This record gives sequence, C-alpha cells and structure tokens, in this order.
Amino acid sequence: MDPIQEIKNRLDIVELVSETVNLRKSGRSYTGFCPFHSNTRTPSFVVFPETQTWRCFGACAEGGDIFSYFMKRDGVEFREALVQLAARAGVQLEEPDPQKIARKNAQDHLVELLEAAAGYFHQLFLHAPQAQFAREYIDKRGFTAETIDTFRIGFALNSWNAARDHFLGQGYSEEDLIKVGLLTVNEEKGTRYDRFRNRLMIPIRDMQGRVVGFGARTLDPDGIPKYLNSPQNELFDKSNLLFGLDMARRHIREARQAVIVEGYMDVIMAWQAGFRNMVAQMGTALTPTQLNLLKRVTKRFVIALDADAAGVNATLRSLDVARKTLDREEELRFDPTGLIKEEGRLQADMRIVSMPPGEDPDSLIRQDPALFARRIEGAKPVVEYVIDVLSQETDLNDPKNKTQLAEKVIPLIRDVASPVEREHFWQLLARTLRVDDRALKQLYVPGERRPVVGERRSTKSSPPPKPTPQNRARSRGDGVKKIEENFLRECLIDPLLIRRINRMLSQEGQSIIHAEDFSSAVDRTLFVVLNQQQSLGVVASIEEIWDSLDALMQQRVQQLMQLSSTKQAEREKLPERLVHSVLDWRLRKANQLNDELKLLIREAKQEADVELVRNYTQQHAELTRQIYQVNRAKAAIKGISRRRS
Ligand code: UTP
Ligand code: MN
Repeated sequence: MDPIQEIKNRLDIVELVSETVNLRKSGRSYTGFCPFHSNTRTPSFVVFPETQTWRCFGACAEGGDIFSYFMKRDGVEFREALVQLAARAGVQLEEPDPQKIARKNAQDHLVELLEAAAGYFHQLFLHAPQAQFAREYIDKRGFTAETIDTFRIGFALNSWNAARDHFLGQGYSEEDLIKVGLLTVNEEKGTRYDRFRNRLMIPIRDMQGRVVGFGARTLDPDGIPKYLNSPQNELFDKSNLLFGLDMARRHIREARQAVIVEGYMDVIMAWQAGFRNMVAQMGTALTPTQLNLLKRVTKRFVIALDADAAGVNATLRSLDVARKTLDREEELRFDPTGLIKEEGRLQADMRIVSMPPGEDPDSLIRQDPALFARRIEGAKPVVEYVIDVLSQETDLNDPKNKTQLAEKVIPLIRDVASPVEREHFWQLLARTLRVDDRALKQLYVPGERRPVVGERRSTKSSPPPKPTPQNRARSRGDGVKKIEENFLRECLIDPLLIRRINRMLSQEGQSIIHAEDFSSAVDRTLFVVLNQQQSLGVVASIEEIWDSLDALMQQRVQQLMQLSSTKQAEREKLPERLVHSVLDWRLRKANQLNDELKLLIREAKQEADVELVRNYTQQHAELTRQIYQVNRAKAAIKGISRRRS
C-alpha cells in the first residue's frame, strides 16, 4: 500500500483534530469551532470519522483530509506533513524502489485471489447442493441471511482439488494458491491438494478490510481441528489481526469501548444482535500488536473470557509462570500480568469478565442479549477480577489461604502503573482478606514503596509511625482546598485547560500538574480521569466521563459544579489565573511541609537520631530549593500577564 493510504488507515482524523479542537459528537460526525477562522458562536467545523475528512461550513468553506488539516494547522508543506504524520503512524517513508513496487504488486495479486476465494466459497455456500447441510447448520445456529451476507460465510466442497481447479482456470498459479494457503503441499508425496475441504468458511479481513485468510470450521462434531485456519504467511499473521476489526472500528469509537471475545462465532452472533463493538482474538493470546491496532480507536477494553473452567484454573496456576514467560503463546489465554503491563503501557482501561459456566458470548446472546449486555457492564479491572476469582475458590477462614492468595495478587498490584489505582487495589485486597492493608504492604514489599516526601523510611526495627509532615499538613489548609476545588471545577468545564496550564508550567520549568497536587483522594482520582481523557486526545466533557465515574466521584462532580462559576469576561485570564493558583498552592504546601520539617528536625536532634536529622535536613534543603523555583515561576507568570494587559 502506498504510504499515504497507509497513514490514513493508521491515523484517526478525529484524534488529531481533538488535540487542539474541542469536538462534540453529533450523530455520525463531530463538530467544533473552526480552528482556521475566528468564531466562537457557531461550531461550523465538522469532522467525519467514516470518510476521515473535515469541513468548515463557516467562513472558510474549506475541507479535506488528514493531510490538508495537518498542513493548515501547523502551517507546513505537504512533504513536511507527510514526514510528520508518517512518524506518528509508524509508517516507513521510503524512496520508491522498483523491487518494493514489484513486491507490492505481487501482494495485491494475492489479496485479489483471496477476495475471489471468499466470493467462490460464499457462492458455494449459498447455492451448492453439497452445502445443504452447512446451510441447515447455520440456520439452526440462528444466523440470518443478512448476517451470512455481511460476513460472506462460505463453504468449501468436500474435494481435494475443487478450489485448485477453479482458480487455475481463473489464471492463478499453484504457487499463488500455496502462498495464500488455499493449497497444501505434501512434501513427501509431492502432491498438492485443497487445504479447506468440507468446511464452513469464514473470511478473515485485516484492518483495511482486505481478505487475508480464512477460519474454516468443521461441520463434523468429531472433526479435528474444529477450526482450521489459513497458515501463517505474509498476509495472514494471527498475532496482528483481530477478527471483525474492520467492521467494528466505527462502532468501537462510538461506544468508546472495544469488547474482545474469543471466537469468530461470538463476534458474528453479537453483530447480529446489535453488539457491534466486538472483535475476536483468534485462538492466540492477545498480543501487544493487536492492542496497538485497537488503541487507535479506543483505550477502553473489555476482555470477555469464555467460561471454560480450564481457562480460569489455568489462569490461577499460571500466574507465576506468566510472569516469567511473557512471550508464551496458545494454551495460556488469560495472562493478567501481561494485561496489566499493557494497560500501563497504553494508558488504557482494561477490564475482564467471564461468561457463566458452559456459555460463551454466542450462546449467551442467543439465550438473551440482555444477559450478555449485563455481563459486559459488570467487567472488572484485571486485579479485581483475579481477586474475585481467587477468593471465590478459596476458604478465606484459613490464614494460610489468605497468605497464598495475597502472594498471587500482590505482584499484580505492584505492576499497576497508576498510583491511585494501585492504592485502590491494596485496599481491596486488604478488605477481601480482612487484614490491615499496611500489614499487607509491609509483609510483602518491604522497602519497595516509592518514597514520598516527608515519609520516613526506617531500615532499623520499625517504631510506631510518627506523624509525617505530609499528613500533618493535610489536616490544615482549607484555603488550599478552595483553590483546588476551583481548579478542578474549571477543568471539568473545559478539559483543554489542563493542557494549556501544563504548557505554561513547563515553560517556567515547573512540573506539570499531577494527581499529588490535590489533597483529597477523590479529587486526585477525578483529576486522573480527566487528565487521562485529555492525554488520549479525547476532549471529554463531564457528561461523557460521567458513566466511568463511581458514585462517590459523581457526587463530588455534582458538588464542584455547584460552586460559583467564573464569569465569561474573566475566562480569558483563566489559564494564567489557574497557573498562578497551582503555584500558590504548591508554595503553601511546600512551606507548610517545611515548617513541619523544622519541627521534626528539632525533635530528631533532641532524640539524637543522627540519621533522621540528616534525612530531614536533606528534605528541608530540597524543599527550600523548590520554594525558590516556584517563587521565580510565579514572578515570571506575573510578568507575562502584566505585559499582556
Ligand atoms: P471456540 O472453540 O470457543 O470456538 O474457539 P467458537 O468461535 O465458539 O466456535 P463455535 O461456537 O464452537 O462454532 C475460540 C476461537 O479459537 C480459535 C478460533 O478463532 C475460535 O473462534 N480456534 C479454536 C482455532 O483457531 N482452532 C481451533 O481448533 C479451535
Ligand atoms: Mn461458541
């Protein structure tokens, strides 16, 4: 494929535009204020995800594709846009090379053959007398004619050479047929025969919708294997394909969530029932490449595992194994450690759910689509899922079992990237085991905690915890709280503020806003959610993140929204004002902390605890340095706003 097309396939114009324009979904498209002409009354700028184009219906009356948008936005020439977008898409730009062109033409030829094969099998399925039992089978499973048509379900005749003869007659060579896996070579006998015989044929398409292979289901209850797939080849690589993604993509974006199931039939039945944001992982473990494909469309994944008991048990037994062999394949389907790492790497929200015993999504939906929908809604974060499964099978009255369970779960918790979530899981585990979470932490991760400013790390015997400067400071500071609240409120209304404020902060050599800038746990979590949204390039308004908030956070949002709002006239100065207040509250916190430290140093001196004195003194010096820098940044910001007005 030419790089331009490849880039267009890989990038998403909605994502790119969202980086700088506040877009709102309206029907199938997104609207916002046009970034290319000034107008703050009518949102005349429309982005069409389906065609990956944009258009301003206002003063500009202009439109185009992702390239023209980027050129205009960044004021660059086409060549520069190509280079930059290629880099983003991970597309290699190379000089046209005759060899490459030849290879590409050869590939196109093979894709053509596969498309023709899908059509051939489909026609056989629809019309061949030999396919009568296949049609009955599909009918009995409850698939409609429309579904058969949508997925181009096919049938391969019970013959060693029907497909071969058909395609040789069409001008393809045996080599072509071998390359795409329609013919199998028996090296010993030197014979070549049809790979797919007497099977239901399910075409598998890549992200661009090109047929690249087949999953072929036996119709014989004792047939082995149940699914015979195309052999691994240049076009068909199971580890970077997801069945159904080409069609599900749009729906995944709309649902803001992808559901990953195990089987082809699950996706097909779900589609028929109206669950269209689903893909199947094709019998192999979920790979980073597959997740990369998905993450361009969403960062919320629900992994729906079949109920097969072996799977769940294997999960539990293989927790340790999984840690050592992250690159394993096949048998190990559910790998919590791998998933948690991927979740962190992708900054994704990954949830797990399993089907009731004896069911898979297909069978559950046939029973009652609502049952399936409810399951999906109940999906849990990976760690929570593991805790659930383990504790259901364990007698937690036995302290030995508690220890065992904790040993399995703690390594997972420690892999969770987000500190807020990590803390949440510690507490969940502690609650489940009915033990103190501090005891858990101490028992299993001595010395492994990240040191927090003001937190005392003792290497000797542990004395009872002293009040740390931090938690003392926390008990005060109502003024700080006000600033925080105001800040959060404004960001809820306009999430893009975070980015602007971060930019200003970095310009002044200050760290960007982080969760720790907020003193209450709820606010911290709320900020993490907001920040995540906007760092994904999704400019989500409160309504949009509402569903992902738990009751406590929803309550907090309501509270914040009831605070008095900034007057329209003052909005322009808002970013600077907020930066100022961020710096103010950092300053106040640092000063408070430093006061506490002075006290602690005095105490430690009285106790002649040399190590502690040194530790506190170092922190004091570091804080003093920080205070100096914050003050400098404040002065600089003040300078900027004075110059402006
Ligand atoms: P399942 O056995 O759950 O298949 O395997 P299914 O999709 O539910 O099919 P039905 O409902 O029995 O017809 C899950 C997936 O694992 C892969 C296929 O991708 C299948 O959809 N698989 C399974 C294979 O590749 N080969 C096999 O032999 C079996
Ligand atoms: Mn099934």
